[in-house]
Amino acid sequence: MKQAAYRAALDTACALLRNNLAAFTENFQSSNSEHNFYLPSENVEWTTGFCTGEYWLAWEHTRDDAFEQAALTQVNSFLHRIENGIDVDHHDMGFLYVPSCVAAYKLTGNETAQKAALLAADRLCTRFQEKGQFLQAWGTLGAKDNYRLIIDCLLNLPLLYWASEVTGQPRYREIALAHTATSMANLVRPDHSTYHTFFFDSETGAPLRGSTQQGYRDGSAWARGQAWGVYGMALAYFYTGNTKCIELFREVTDYFLSRLPEDYIPYWDLTFVDGDEPRDSSAAAIAACGMLAMVPYLEKTEADKYRAAAEKLADALISHCAVTDPAVSNGLLLHGVYAKNSPYNPIPADRGVDECNTWGDYFYMELLTRLTADWQMYW
Ligand code: GLY
Repeated sequence: MKQAAYRAALDTACALLRNNLAAFTENFQSSNSEHNFYLPSENVEWTTGFCTGEYWLAWEHTRDDAFEQAALTQVNSFLHRIENGIDVDHHDMGFLYVPSCVAAYKLTGNETAQKAALLAADRLCTRFQEKGQFLQAWGTLGAKDNYRLIIDCLLNLPLLYWASEVTGQPRYREIALAHTATSMANLVRPDHSTYHTFFFDSETGAPLRGSTQQGYRDGSAWARGQAWGVYGMALAYFYTGNTKCIELFREVTDYFLSRLPEDYIPYWDLTFVDGDEPRDSSAAAIAACGMLAMVPYLEKTEADKYRAAAEKLADALISHCAVTDPAVSNGLLLHGVYAKNSPYNPIPADRGVDECNTWGDYFYMELLTRLTADWQMYW
């Protein structure tokens, strides 16, 4: 598609969001929709930052003050959340505080946002495990059954890089670098698919085994996990300049692209390349953003290849998943999957299957923004 089509899709997304402001300013959106409609939610779970991030992207595109006001209202909620320790005993401080508060700080210099995001960075650092050199994703710190990192966490690290820049304190960056190195050493398999999670020995820190939490089975590539890997490697290169990150970016991205069905909307796990399994549109949006984030650092031939792939993913999302009619959905991107049970992985209850989810909406907007503007990223 041409720039004009991407701009039109972004215009549509902003118009749909404008309709949502009354319902979702004091309240946030639920993580996923129910029958394609989000419900109001408190500021809980790992997903509310995406709602605020969408408002910042909409504000950048339209300069409509209503978006800025809504986003700043939500920034106050994020300060309240971190100061009161509401649902912050996990590693997803980056997902929560980068698109909301770091974005607010970068765009407006808002001091409440800066304070909230620095508190969130401090909170994230408490999850760093010296033995193993990683940020423990979930659960009681040090507990054997949760002594692991997850691939998604690569997107939490920009919060730490930003905190080091703002405070001048190297500790945040050192933790991010250590976690990145441990992730790079353990998450990518020889065939370039990725583990969702990886366990370490809590007494020695030795690497133990890969496993999945949301994928089809331990040995498969959960589509969104692979997409976090694509974007995560692009960010790792941006922040470290380590050329090994480019190598891993190529590997995980080419694997992702090689497992896409004809219509380019990935199945929820890359085990599947055809059939009736649900799709995860959010994985397409995340991976495409990661490709565009890496493009400026590649030689022309490769840059052209990944830009073309990102455009093809964007075209597929616009054609097959984008909401255009508010009567159909109050989200932006249909056909995502939050979590899906499988015969090999009974852990997650089915949740948000063939629904919108807030991160899918956010990364769809980020993708359209990247395709239409010289965007200074929030991450
Ligand atoms: N970061 C959690 C997920 O992608 O579902």
